[in-house]
Amino acid sequence: MSIWHVTGGERLRGSLRIQGSKNAVLPVIAASLLCSSETELTNCPRLSDVEAAMDILRYLGCQAERDGDVLTIGSASPSRCDIPRDLMHRMRSSVIFLGPMLARFGEAHVSVPGGCELGPRPIDLHLQALRLLGAEIREEPGGIVCQAARLRGAEIPLTLPSVGATENAMIAACAAEGETVIYNAAREPEIETLQEYLRLLGAQISGAGSPVIRVNGFTPREHAGLRIPPDRIAAATYLCCTACAGGDVDLLDAEPDHMAPVLETLEAMGCAVTARPGHVHIGVSGRLRAPGAVVTRPYPGFPTDAAPLLMAACLKVTGPAVFIENIFSGRYRHAEELRRLGADITIRGPLAMVTGVESLHGANLTSPDLRGGAALVAAALGAEGPSLVYDDGHIRRGYDGLEESLRGLGAQIWCEGGERY
Ligand code: UD1
Repeated sequence: MSIWHVTGGERLRGSLRIQGSKNAVLPVIAASLLCSSETELTNCPRLSDVEAAMDILRYLGCQAERDGDVLTIGSASPSRCDIPRDLMHRMRSSVIFLGPMLARFGEAHVSVPGGCELGPRPIDLHLQALRLLGAEIREEPGGIVCQAARLRGAEIPLTLPSVGATENAMIAACAAEGETVIYNAAREPEIETLQEYLRLLGAQISGAGSPVIRVNGFTPREHAGLRIPPDRIAAATYLCCTACAGGDVDLLDAEPDHMAPVLETLEAMGCAVTARPGHVHIGVSGRLRAPGAVVTRPYPGFPTDAAPLLMAACLKVTGPAVFIENIFSGRYRHAEELRRLGADITIRGPLAMVTGVESLHGANLTSPDLRGGAALVAAALGAEGPSLVYDDGHIRRGYDGLEESLRGLGAQIWCEGGERY
């Protein structure tokens, strides 16, 4: 358990560099199983999820080393094709290893990823995609066995543009004979990063960023080196922290094109936002106003991961702010905690209404999940007096040096206990 000590009331000033993207690096680490020799990834954030993914690779018999922000992975001779329950459960998105294991070994034995803090996290689309590629899948009590003597290219229509299912299908299709076409594919920037990496490994793959992705064979190459792009959700987090506390902040290494709906919403609230490639500036003074309805949707819509942060930024706005969550049913668990700060929030199913209050006061809070936890920290920065955020390891799943970055901007924040990565 870590305890985040936050004393609100300080305006944020200065600049910070945005970490590499968690959601981009995780599928690339899993896909490195396809590489017949060495992968070198730079700009890798220090996160518990990244360490868990590296531990899975080590368990499978790969070499996985970190030196600063560089991960070096040697996957010349992995030795096993199962992932035990404790490793599967350390990382929410461990299901992303299914496609790579099937592609590399023709076999994968994994325990079923449990429910997660955001509500049920089904994997039916992942399994359906792998079945269409020719895998036989048996769901046993507590586990899944996937086998395929040979994977065959297939047409894969996804009923939802699931990010993880698209990634699993792309990776497994690299080992299939013939063409695979994924329809209604997720279009997130992380899908484009995965495509870039698979191309470096020798895949003929195109279409990432559009709803149709084609994979057409694989000619293994010896070495792949990739720089992980900046984390658009971490960037949104620091922008929302500034919207909560007020101030003037420059984000370096941010990619504004990947976060257009977040920037537009903050502008609509009265924040001064200027952006160019690699750089975003936000200036916040005075009371902000409620934006139009914030409706989460798959990319390029408003990202569900940024919605809790934006909710924190709306607690003191003028007028009512409306949120509609379309991706995860358990997304609002931070709302009850925000109320302890004096926030006025009503939840009705997927709808949340925030009525802005004049001021917030410090309180003791419990972090419910990764982005919810970050939202509590952001809100506490805009509250008067000290707050404590009790966090059971959620925040370090996704943020590399959150407290140092915020302290660098003048925030009063420190973190007690909990493991560092
Ligand atoms: C990824 C991100 C996560 C983000 C989410 C949505 C990573 C590591 N995580 O998660 O941060 O919040 O995208 O942008 O990249 N679904 C099914 N069946 C499936 C798979 C998904 O019904 O087999 C549903 C989910 O319940 C959810 C929706 O599809 O309602 C989207 O989920 P998905 O895009 O798969 O999210 P993840 O890849 O798990």
